[in-house]
Amino acid sequence: MLILAIETSCDETAAAVVKYDRGCFDIKSNIIASQVEIHSKYGGIVPEVAARQHVKNIIPVVDEAMSKFKPEDIDAVAVVNGPGLITSLFVGVEAAKTLSLAWNKPLISINHLEAHIYSVLIKQENKKTIPRQSSGQGKQTFEFPALALIVSGGHTQLVLMKGHGKYEIVGETRDDAAGEAFDKVAKLLGLGYPGGPVVSAYAEKSSTSKIELPRPMIRSKDFDFSFSGLKTAVLYETRDQLKAGFANPAFKDKYIAEVCYEFQQAVIDVLTAKTIKAAKKFGAKTVILAGGVSANKELRGQMADAVKKEIPSSVFCLPSPGLSTDNAAMVGMAGVFHYLDKDFTKIEDLKVDPNLGLE
Ligand code: KG4
Ligand code: ZN
Repeated sequence: MLILAIETSCDETAAAVVKYDRGCFDIKSNIIASQVEIHSKYGGIVPEVAARQHVKNIIPVVDEAMSKFKPEDIDAVAVVNGPGLITSLFVGVEAAKTLSLAWNKPLISINHLEAHIYSVLIKQENKKTIPRQSSGQGKQTFEFPALALIVSGGHTQLVLMKGHGKYEIVGETRDDAAGEAFDKVAKLLGLGYPGGPVVSAYAEKSSTSKIELPRPMIRSKDFDFSFSGLKTAVLYETRDQLKAGFANPAFKDKYIAEVCYEFQQAVIDVLTAKTIKAAKKFGAKTVILAGGVSANKELRGQMADAVKKEIPSSVFCLPSPGLSTDNAAMVGMAGVFHYLDKDFTKIEDLKVDPNLGLE
Protein backbone atom coordinates (compact mmCIF):
# COMPACT_ATOMS: atom_id res chain seq x y z
CA MET A 1 0.00 0.00 0.00
CA LEU A 2 1.25 3.49 -0.90
CA ILE A 3 -0.16 6.64 0.67
CA LEU A 4 0.46 10.19 -0.48
CA ALA A 5 0.31 12.40 2.62
CA ILE A 6 0.04 16.19 2.85
CA GLU A 7 0.60 18.45 5.87
CA THR A 8 0.20 22.26 5.91
CA SER A 9 -1.12 22.94 9.43
CA CYS A 10 1.43 25.57 10.41
CA ASP A 11 4.47 26.96 8.60
CA GLU A 12 5.86 23.87 6.81
CA THR A 13 4.52 22.73 3.46
CA ALA A 14 5.03 18.96 3.52
CA ALA A 15 4.27 15.95 1.35
CA ALA A 16 5.40 12.33 1.66
CA VAL A 17 4.87 8.93 0.13
CA VAL A 18 4.68 6.17 2.73
CA LYS A 19 4.69 2.47 1.91
CA TYR A 20 3.13 -0.17 4.12
CA ASP A 21 3.73 -3.81 3.45
CA ARG A 22 2.86 -6.69 5.79
CA GLY A 23 3.18 -4.62 8.94
CA CYS A 24 6.29 -2.65 7.94
CA PHE A 25 6.58 1.02 7.05
CA ASP A 26 8.95 2.54 4.53
CA ILE A 27 9.15 6.28 3.95
CA LYS A 28 9.65 6.57 0.20
CA SER A 29 9.83 10.36 0.14
CA ASN A 30 9.45 13.07 2.77
CA ILE A 31 9.62 16.63 1.43
CA ILE A 32 9.37 19.73 3.62
CA ALA A 33 9.48 23.35 2.46
CA SER A 34 10.21 25.28 5.63
CA GLN A 35 9.25 28.92 6.13
CA VAL A 36 11.36 29.40 9.26
CA GLU A 37 13.59 32.06 7.69
CA ILE A 38 10.62 34.12 6.56
CA HIS A 39 8.80 34.02 9.92
CA SER A 40 11.92 34.50 12.04
CA LYS A 41 12.05 38.07 10.71
CA TYR A 42 8.72 38.69 12.47
CA GLY A 43 9.63 36.77 15.65
CA GLY A 44 6.78 34.29 15.12
CA ILE A 45 4.40 32.89 12.53
CA VAL A 46 2.31 35.38 10.56
CA PRO A 47 -0.72 33.34 9.39
CA GLU A 48 -1.36 35.38 6.24
CA VAL A 49 2.26 35.04 5.15
CA ALA A 50 2.25 31.29 5.94
CA ALA A 51 -0.85 30.68 3.80
CA ARG A 52 0.64 32.56 0.83
CA GLN A 53 3.83 30.49 1.09
CA HIS A 54 1.82 27.26 1.21
CA VAL A 55 0.02 28.27 -1.99
CA LYS A 56 3.38 28.90 -3.63
CA ASN A 57 4.97 25.67 -2.36
CA ILE A 58 2.27 23.03 -2.42
CA ILE A 59 2.52 21.94 -6.08
CA PRO A 60 6.35 21.75 -6.20
CA VAL A 61 6.43 19.90 -2.86
CA VAL A 62 3.83 17.31 -3.93
CA ASP A 63 5.59 16.96 -7.30
CA GLU A 64 8.89 16.25 -5.60
CA ALA A 65 7.36 13.74 -3.18
CA MET A 66 5.76 11.97 -6.16
CA SER A 67 8.86 12.16 -8.38
CA LYS A 68 9.40 8.37 -8.35
CA PHE A 69 5.69 7.48 -8.54
CA LYS A 70 2.77 7.71 -10.89
CA PRO A 71 -0.72 8.56 -9.65
CA GLU A 72 -1.78 4.94 -10.40
CA ASP A 73 0.75 3.70 -7.80
CA ILE A 74 -1.00 5.58 -5.00
CA ASP A 75 -3.76 3.88 -2.98
CA ALA A 76 -5.05 6.89 -1.01
CA VAL A 77 -4.43 10.57 -0.25
CA ALA A 78 -4.16 11.50 3.45
CA VAL A 79 -4.22 15.07 4.73
CA VAL A 80 -4.21 16.94 8.04
CA ASN A 81 -7.48 18.87 8.48
CA GLY A 82 -6.75 20.25 12.00
CA PRO A 83 -5.78 21.43 14.52
CA GLY A 84 -3.66 24.26 13.12
CA LEU A 85 -3.89 27.64 11.42
CA ILE A 86 -7.10 27.74 9.41
CA THR A 87 -5.69 29.51 6.36
CA SER A 88 -2.70 27.15 6.26
CA LEU A 89 -4.85 24.02 6.66
CA PHE A 90 -7.08 25.06 3.75
CA VAL A 91 -4.20 24.88 1.27
CA GLY A 92 -3.28 21.27 2.06
CA VAL A 93 -6.88 20.12 2.32
CA GLU A 94 -7.89 21.68 -1.02
CA ALA A 95 -4.82 20.15 -2.69
CA ALA A 96 -5.65 16.70 -1.26
CA LYS A 97 -9.30 16.97 -2.35
CA THR A 98 -8.23 17.93 -5.87
CA LEU A 99 -5.79 15.02 -6.17
CA SER A 100 -8.29 12.56 -4.71
CA LEU A 101 -10.87 13.67 -7.28
CA ALA A 102 -8.49 13.80 -10.26
CA TRP A 103 -6.87 10.43 -9.50
CA ASN A 104 -10.03 8.78 -8.20
CA LYS A 105 -8.36 7.73 -4.94
CA PRO A 106 -9.89 7.57 -1.45
CA LEU A 107 -9.36 10.55 0.82
CA ILE A 108 -8.29 10.17 4.47
CA SER A 109 -8.53 12.98 7.01
CA ILE A 110 -5.93 12.94 9.75
CA ASN A 111 -5.80 14.82 13.03
CA HIS A 112 -2.46 16.66 13.36
CA LEU A 113 -1.92 15.31 16.91
CA GLU A 114 -2.74 11.76 15.86
CA ALA A 115 -0.08 12.10 13.15
CA HIS A 116 2.47 13.10 15.81
CA ILE A 117 1.62 9.95 17.79
CA TYR A 118 2.18 7.72 14.76
CA SER A 119 5.49 9.45 13.92
CA VAL A 120 7.22 7.10 16.38
CA LEU A 121 6.50 3.97 14.34
CA ILE A 122 9.58 4.16 12.12
CA LYS A 123 13.27 4.86 12.53
CA GLN A 124 14.06 7.25 9.71
CA GLU A 125 17.84 6.86 9.57
CA ASN A 126 17.81 3.32 8.25
CA LYS A 127 14.19 3.33 7.12
CA LYS A 128 13.61 0.25 9.24
CA THR A 129 10.52 -0.22 11.27
CA ILE A 130 11.16 -0.23 15.02
CA PRO A 131 11.14 -3.90 16.03
CA ARG A 132 8.14 -4.74 18.10
CA GLN A 133 9.11 -5.71 21.59
CA SER A 134 7.34 -9.05 21.69
CA SER A 135 7.68 -10.48 18.19
CA GLY A 136 10.80 -8.68 16.97
CA GLN A 137 9.61 -9.37 13.45
CA GLY A 138 9.52 -5.74 12.40
CA LYS A 139 5.75 -5.77 12.42
CA GLN A 140 4.76 -2.49 13.95
CA THR A 141 1.90 -1.35 16.04
CA PHE A 142 1.56 -0.20 19.64
CA GLU A 143 1.02 -2.41 22.65
CA PHE A 144 -2.13 -1.02 24.26
CA PRO A 145 -2.92 0.74 26.49
CA ALA A 146 -0.44 3.33 25.27
CA LEU A 147 0.15 6.73 26.84
CA ALA A 148 1.30 9.54 24.55
CA LEU A 149 2.77 12.84 25.67
CA ILE A 150 2.29 15.25 22.77
CA VAL A 151 4.40 18.38 23.17
CA SER A 152 4.32 20.92 20.36
CA GLY A 153 4.03 24.64 19.72
CA GLY A 154 0.24 24.54 20.07
CA HIS A 155 -0.42 21.57 22.35
CA THR A 156 0.69 19.79 25.49
CA GLN A 157 -1.49 16.76 26.10
CA LEU A 158 -1.31 13.38 27.78
CA VAL A 159 -3.38 11.02 25.67
CA LEU A 160 -4.42 7.51 26.67
CA MET A 161 -4.87 5.15 23.71
CA LYS A 162 -6.79 1.93 24.20
CA GLY A 163 -6.58 1.02 20.51
CA HIS A 164 -5.94 2.61 17.11
CA GLY A 165 -8.09 5.72 16.87
CA LYS A 166 -9.30 5.39 20.49
CA TYR A 167 -8.09 8.47 22.31
CA GLU A 168 -8.82 9.88 25.75
CA ILE A 169 -7.18 13.10 26.89
CA VAL A 170 -6.16 12.56 30.51
CA GLY A 171 -4.22 15.80 30.97
CA GLU A 172 -3.38 18.99 29.11
CA THR A 173 -1.96 22.45 29.56
CA ARG A 174 -4.21 25.03 31.12
CA ASP A 175 -2.43 27.89 29.37
CA ASP A 176 0.72 27.86 27.18
CA ALA A 177 1.95 24.75 25.40
CA ALA A 178 5.49 23.55 26.20
CA GLY A 179 6.80 24.57 22.75
CA GLU A 180 5.10 27.94 23.07
CA ALA A 181 6.93 28.46 26.39
CA PHE A 182 10.27 27.70 24.65
CA ASP A 183 9.34 30.18 21.89
CA LYS A 184 8.28 32.93 24.33
CA VAL A 185 11.35 32.51 26.55
CA ALA A 186 13.60 32.70 23.47
CA LYS A 187 11.81 35.87 22.39
CA LEU A 188 12.18 37.60 25.76
CA LEU A 189 15.87 36.66 25.89
CA GLY A 190 16.28 38.04 22.36
CA LEU A 191 17.29 34.67 20.89
CA GLY A 192 14.96 34.60 17.87
CA TYR A 193 12.39 32.13 16.49
CA PRO A 194 11.73 29.20 16.78
CA GLY A 195 12.74 29.07 20.41
CA GLY A 196 13.14 25.33 21.08
CA PRO A 197 16.34 24.66 19.14
CA VAL A 198 18.08 27.88 20.24
CA VAL A 199 17.13 27.57 23.93
CA SER A 200 18.28 23.96 24.02
CA ALA A 201 21.56 24.89 22.28
CA TYR A 202 22.21 27.50 24.99
CA ALA A 203 21.17 25.06 27.72
CA GLU A 204 23.80 22.62 26.47
CA LYS A 205 26.52 25.18 27.23
CA SER A 206 25.74 24.94 30.94
CA SER A 207 25.69 22.01 33.31
CA THR A 208 24.29 23.80 36.32
CA SER A 209 22.43 26.98 37.21
CA LYS A 210 22.35 29.38 40.15
CA ILE A 211 18.95 30.56 38.98
CA GLU A 212 15.99 28.76 40.49
CA LEU A 213 12.70 28.54 38.60
CA PRO A 214 9.43 26.92 39.71
CA ARG A 215 8.17 23.50 38.51
CA PRO A 216 4.52 24.48 37.99
CA MET A 217 1.89 21.91 39.01
CA ILE A 218 4.48 19.18 39.48
CA ARG A 219 2.71 17.93 42.59
CA SER A 220 -0.90 18.56 41.53
CA LYS A 221 -3.15 15.48 41.72
CA ASP A 222 -4.28 15.73 38.09
CA PHE A 223 -2.28 15.31 34.89
CA ASP A 224 -2.58 18.92 33.75
CA PHE A 225 0.23 21.35 33.03
CA SER A 226 0.81 25.10 33.18
CA PHE A 227 3.75 26.84 31.54
CA SER A 228 2.74 30.48 31.41
CA GLY A 229 3.89 31.19 34.99
CA LEU A 230 7.25 29.63 34.22
CA LYS A 231 7.72 32.02 31.31
CA THR A 232 6.78 34.94 33.59
CA ALA A 233 9.26 33.68 36.20
CA VAL A 234 11.99 33.81 33.52
CA LEU A 235 10.92 37.37 32.71
CA TYR A 236 11.12 38.50 36.37
CA GLU A 237 14.39 36.68 36.89
CA THR A 238 16.11 38.23 33.89
CA ARG A 239 14.58 41.66 33.28
CA ASP A 240 17.04 43.65 35.41
CA GLN A 241 19.99 41.99 33.74
CA LEU A 242 18.49 42.44 30.28
CA LYS A 243 17.60 46.09 30.94
CA ALA A 244 21.10 46.87 32.18
CA GLY A 245 22.56 45.29 29.05
CA PHE A 246 25.64 43.16 29.20
CA ALA A 247 28.92 45.03 29.14
CA ASN A 248 30.78 41.74 29.11
CA PRO A 249 29.72 39.40 26.24
CA ALA A 250 31.25 36.37 27.97
CA PHE A 251 29.10 37.01 31.04
CA LYS A 252 26.03 37.48 28.84
CA ASP A 253 26.62 34.14 27.18
CA LYS A 254 27.13 32.35 30.49
CA TYR A 255 24.08 34.00 32.03
CA ILE A 256 21.76 33.19 29.11
CA ALA A 257 23.07 29.59 29.11
CA GLU A 258 22.20 29.26 32.81
CA VAL A 259 18.71 30.68 32.34
CA CYS A 260 18.07 28.33 29.40
CA TYR A 261 19.46 25.36 31.31
CA GLU A 262 17.21 25.98 34.32
CA PHE A 263 14.13 26.75 32.19
CA GLN A 264 14.60 23.62 30.07
CA GLN A 265 15.14 21.47 33.17
CA ALA A 266 12.00 22.88 34.80
CA VAL A 267 9.94 21.93 31.71
CA ILE A 268 11.53 18.46 31.56
CA ASP A 269 10.97 17.81 35.29
CA VAL A 270 7.26 18.58 35.01
CA LEU A 271 6.71 16.69 31.73
CA THR A 272 8.57 13.63 33.02
CA ALA A 273 6.92 13.52 36.45
CA LYS A 274 3.39 13.80 35.03
CA THR A 275 3.99 11.29 32.24
CA ILE A 276 5.39 8.65 34.61
CA LYS A 277 2.56 9.23 37.08
CA ALA A 278 -0.08 8.83 34.35
CA ALA A 279 1.65 5.80 32.80
CA LYS A 280 1.63 4.07 36.19
CA LYS A 281 -1.99 4.95 36.90
CA PHE A 282 -3.26 3.72 33.52
CA GLY A 283 -0.94 0.71 33.28
CA ALA A 284 0.59 1.89 29.99
CA LYS A 285 2.42 -0.84 28.07
CA THR A 286 3.77 1.77 25.66
CA VAL A 287 4.90 5.31 26.49
CA ILE A 288 5.13 7.67 23.51
CA LEU A 289 6.86 11.05 23.39
CA ALA A 290 6.00 13.07 20.25
CA GLY A 291 5.51 16.58 18.81
CA GLY A 292 8.05 19.29 17.99
CA VAL A 293 9.44 19.53 21.56
CA SER A 294 10.31 15.80 21.42
CA ALA A 295 13.28 16.92 19.26
CA ASN A 296 14.81 18.14 22.53
CA LYS A 297 17.80 15.92 23.29
CA GLU A 298 17.67 16.33 27.08
CA LEU A 299 13.94 15.62 27.20
CA ARG A 300 14.39 12.50 25.07
CA GLY A 301 17.21 11.19 27.27
CA GLN A 302 15.65 12.02 30.63
CA MET A 303 12.23 10.63 29.68
CA ALA A 304 13.85 7.42 28.40
CA ASP A 305 15.78 7.04 31.67
CA ALA A 306 12.67 7.71 33.77
CA VAL A 307 10.56 5.14 31.88
CA LYS A 308 13.34 2.54 32.18
CA LYS A 309 13.72 3.16 35.91
CA GLU A 310 10.10 3.68 36.99
CA ILE A 311 8.12 1.45 34.60
CA PRO A 312 10.66 -1.01 33.15
CA SER A 313 7.98 -3.24 31.62
CA SER A 314 6.80 -0.42 29.30
CA VAL A 315 8.19 0.16 25.81
CA PHE A 316 9.34 3.74 25.23
CA CYS A 317 8.84 5.13 21.71
CA LEU A 318 9.99 8.44 20.29
CA PRO A 319 10.30 9.82 16.77
CA SER A 320 13.55 9.99 14.84
CA PRO A 321 14.76 13.58 15.33
CA GLY A 322 13.74 14.48 11.77
CA LEU A 323 10.17 13.33 12.41
CA SER A 324 9.60 15.23 15.68
CA THR A 325 8.61 18.52 14.11
CA ASP A 326 5.81 18.80 11.54
CA ASN A 327 6.20 16.55 8.50
CA ALA A 328 3.98 14.54 6.17
CA ALA A 329 5.54 11.07 6.70
CA MET A 330 3.82 10.87 10.09
CA VAL A 331 0.51 11.72 8.38
CA GLY A 332 1.05 8.82 5.98
CA MET A 333 1.79 6.40 8.84
CA ALA A 334 -1.39 7.42 10.68
CA GLY A 335 -3.21 7.20 7.33
CA VAL A 336 -2.25 3.53 6.97
CA PHE A 337 -4.39 2.58 9.98
CA HIS A 338 -7.37 4.53 8.62
CA TYR A 339 -6.88 2.78 5.27
CA LEU A 340 -6.84 -0.64 6.92
CA ASP A 341 -10.14 0.29 8.65
CA LYS A 342 -11.51 1.68 5.36
CA ASP A 343 -12.05 4.93 7.25
CA PHE A 344 -12.30 7.30 4.28
CA THR A 345 -13.85 10.76 4.08
CA LYS A 346 -16.00 11.96 1.20
CA ILE A 347 -14.62 15.02 -0.56
CA GLU A 348 -17.74 17.05 0.20
CA ASP A 349 -17.61 16.06 3.90
CA LEU A 350 -13.97 16.93 4.55
CA LYS A 351 -13.88 20.14 6.58
CA VAL A 352 -10.98 22.11 7.97
CA ASP A 353 -11.18 22.52 11.75
CA PRO A 354 -8.49 24.73 13.38
CA ASN A 355 -9.54 23.45 16.85
CA LEU A 356 -10.04 19.80 15.96
CA GLY A 357 -9.75 17.64 19.10
CA LEU A 358 -8.47 14.08 19.39
CA GLU A 359 -11.49 12.53 21.07
O1 KG4 B 1 4.97 19.96 16.22
P1 KG4 B 1 5.63 21.22 15.79
O2 KG4 B 1 6.63 21.15 14.68
O3 KG4 B 1 4.56 22.28 15.34
C1 KG4 B 1 3.34 22.40 16.05
O4 KG4 B 1 2.49 21.52 15.85
O5 KG4 B 1 3.28 23.34 16.87
O6 KG4 B 1 6.30 21.86 17.08
C2 KG4 B 1 6.96 23.09 17.03
C3 KG4 B 1 7.45 23.45 18.42
C4 KG4 B 1 7.97 24.88 18.51
O7 KG4 B 1 7.39 25.51 19.63
C5 KG4 B 1 9.47 24.67 18.71
O8 KG4 B 1 10.09 25.70 19.46
C6 KG4 B 1 9.51 23.34 19.43
O9 KG4 B 1 8.51 22.57 18.80
N1 KG4 B 1 10.81 22.68 19.31
C7 KG4 B 1 11.62 22.41 20.36
C8 KG4 B 1 12.81 21.86 19.83
N2 KG4 B 1 12.68 21.80 18.46
C9 KG4 B 1 11.45 22.31 18.16
N3 KG4 B 1 11.45 22.60 21.68
C10 KG4 B 1 12.44 22.25 22.50
N4 KG4 B 1 13.62 21.73 22.08
C11 KG4 B 1 13.85 21.52 20.76
N5 KG4 B 1 15.00 21.00 20.36
ZN1 ZN C 1 2.87 19.61 15.10
